[in-house]
This record gives sequence, structure tokens and C-alpha cells, in this order.
Amino acid sequence: MSNLTYAEVDLSAIRNNVKAIRKRVGEPVKIMPAVKANGYGHGAIQVSRACLDGGADALCVSSLEEGVELRDAGVDVPILTLGCLPVNAAQAMVDYGITSTVCEIDYANALSDAAVRLGKTTLVHIKIDTGMGRIGIRPNDTLDFARTLAALPNVLIEGMFTHFPCSDESDRSFTLGQIEAFRDTAIRLKRAGIEVPLLHTSNSGGILAFPEADFNAVRPGIMIYGYYPSDEVARSIPIREAMTLKTHITFLKNAERGTSISYGRTHVLKRKSRVATLPIGYGDGYPRLLSNKGEAVVRGTRVPLIGRVCMDQCMIDVTDVPGVGVGDEVTLYGGGYDFLSVSHIAEKVGTISYEVLCNIGQRVPRVYFNG
Ligand SMILES: Cc1ncc(COP(=O)(O)O)c(C=O)c1O
Repeated sequence: MSNLTYAEVDLSAIRNNVKAIRKRVGEPVKIMPAVKANGYGHGAIQVSRACLDGGADALCVSSLEEGVELRDAGVDVPILTLGCLPVNAAQAMVDYGITSTVCEIDYANALSDAAVRLGKTTLVHIKIDTGMGRIGIRPNDTLDFARTLAALPNVLIEGMFTHFPCSDESDRSFTLGQIEAFRDTAIRLKRAGIEVPLLHTSNSGGILAFPEADFNAVRPGIMIYGYYPSDEVARSIPIREAMTLKTHITFLKNAERGTSISYGRTHVLKRKSRVATLPIGYGDGYPRLLSNKGEAVVRGTRVPLIGRVCMDQCMIDVTDVPGVGVGDEVTLYGGGYDFLSVSHIAEKVGTISYEVLCNIGQRVPRVYFNG
């Protein structure tokens, strides 16, 4: 491999994170990790296998294509797409045996037609909107919708779910209201004779802070990868970050005091320095907002990123690193350093760990290891 920049992913961390969730939710509750967006940037196929090794029961993706990628890789557990899909995805969804989220009758009809044509039964989960305001049937309309679905040939209602927008916030009241609305809706369906085997509401925040919302399945995302969804939520389950972003020094120079570094000359050396150039930039998803703010570790020494992050390169000040040389390994995210934790990086650039992870570019190879 000639790439000097890569993301190491410790699959044992992912496995153990799933096991830690299992310990909290107990055996009967199904764990359906979110492996969408290429496994939050870690690689969907490898992450999925690690989750299943750790005891996950099913997987959640966002699109038909993400589901097909897993099926083509031989993943044969239940896969649920979480978003609304266009009617022209219905035939392939049935064909690949991928479970659909439904909250629109046109799509449900298309699924039913396709399933009849193919002589198969297709599974659906009803999405209800109890407060996320994104997709879903309103709780009061759910019974009618479920009755319509239940009457569709070759369509089986396997699940019903909702999503929490603020389960990771210290104010619990909104989420508690959502749980109540969801439970009421499930009871109404049951009383009407509509059996829905899988009820699920919890994302990572829910799993950490609302055990009463386990129902019989949970959908952890960010926790699988080793991050808490926010600083406000109880860290009630021990998890470990799976990813370390690394690169290597490609160029090293001594530079005089007063030398300017990178575009815009936003950093001018205050002393005679050693400056190292790294082959990573915003084209790899390393945020340009880390210009003059990023940090790295070289030979165990914490060093600052200086000047603006370019598309493919950036510079660090390695004056205080004894013995530094071209080819030295540089850690940019993770590596067990708190100040390089992706949560910390996210805070620095005004976003969330999810976005920092998803932004790691396609040209950064993911390298997998265990423990
Ligand atoms: C519907 C749904 N469920 C579960 C998750 C997982 O959430 P988290 O990563 O916060 O655990 C997501 C993530 O965006 C989602 O959209």
C-alpha cells in the first residue's frame, strides 16, 4: 500500500461496544446497529460483520444501495432501511429481502405489487413521527395506516418505530412524551388486533438514558463506533473508539523565524522551527476548520497544526519532537489521546462526531485490525 494516510479501524472495539450494549439491554432485546453512511465512515461491510460477531441481530441502513452492498457481501441477517424510498426501489427491496420503512401508501402499494409479482413476502416497519419532525405517520393516523397496510397482499408488518431528536439532552421531558405517545400507539394497534412483533425507539441517547424505551429492539449508531452522542448524556455504558486516523511525514524543513506557512499566510513562525508536511487535507475530509487549530501526535509528542489546511496537505510544527524524520507516523484522530478524540475534534470545528467521521474521504483507505 503506497497510501501514507489511512484510518485504522479496530474491529474488536466495535464488537465489544455491541457486547456492552447487549449487557445493558439484556438478551431478548434485538440490537439493530445503524451501519448507514458506510458504517459512519468506518466501512459498512466490516463494521456489519463486527457488529454481528458482537451479537447484533439485524442492521439498519439508509438506502436500497446500502442494503444491496451488504447483501452482495453475503450479509444475510435482517436489514432495515430507515428512510423513505422511491417507488422504483420497491422491486429490488423485495428481491434482495430488505425490510422497508413505510410511511407512505404509494410506496407500500408498490412493495405489495412487487412482492406479488415475485411471489415473495416483504417485511415492513411503520415509522411514526412522535416528535422528530422528519418522516413518519402521526400517532393518531397510525391505526388507519396500519389497517391499510395489513390488508395489502404479500406485505407483513414486522415492526413499528419512532426516532428521538433529543434523547442525548439533559432535559428528558420531550423524550418521555415521545415514549408515551409511541406506547399508546402500540397499544391501540394491539387492541385493534394488529400484531407488531418489533417495537423500537432508541438511538444511542435512548439506550444510554431511557431503559424504559428499549421495547424489544434498539438502534444504536454512534455508540457502536465508540462515541457518546453528546456530553450531556449519562456515560452509562463503557465504550471504546474504534478509529484512529494516521498519516506520515512526507517533507521536513528547518525554517527561520518570520517564515509564513500555507495559504493566506495565516501562520508566521515565531521562532526558528522544524516544520513537517503531511499528505492529508480537506480533500480527505480533514476539516479545513482545523486550520491553526488542529493537533497531532508524533513520536509521542503533542504538536500543533500550523497554517491553513490545504486540499491534500497540511503542516505541523515538530520543533519539539526529538529525532523527528521523514516517514514518521502522525496520529490525527483517536489513538487513545483524549485531545484527538473525534468528539473533541468535532467540538473544535463546531459540529458533531458523526459528521467528522462521515466526512473522512473515499481516498483514505480503511485498514482493519483486531485488538
Ligand atoms: C432512525 C435512526 N435510528 C437510529 C439512529 C442511530 O442514532 P445514533 O447514531 O445517535 O445512535 C439514527 C441515526 O441517525 C437514525 O436516523
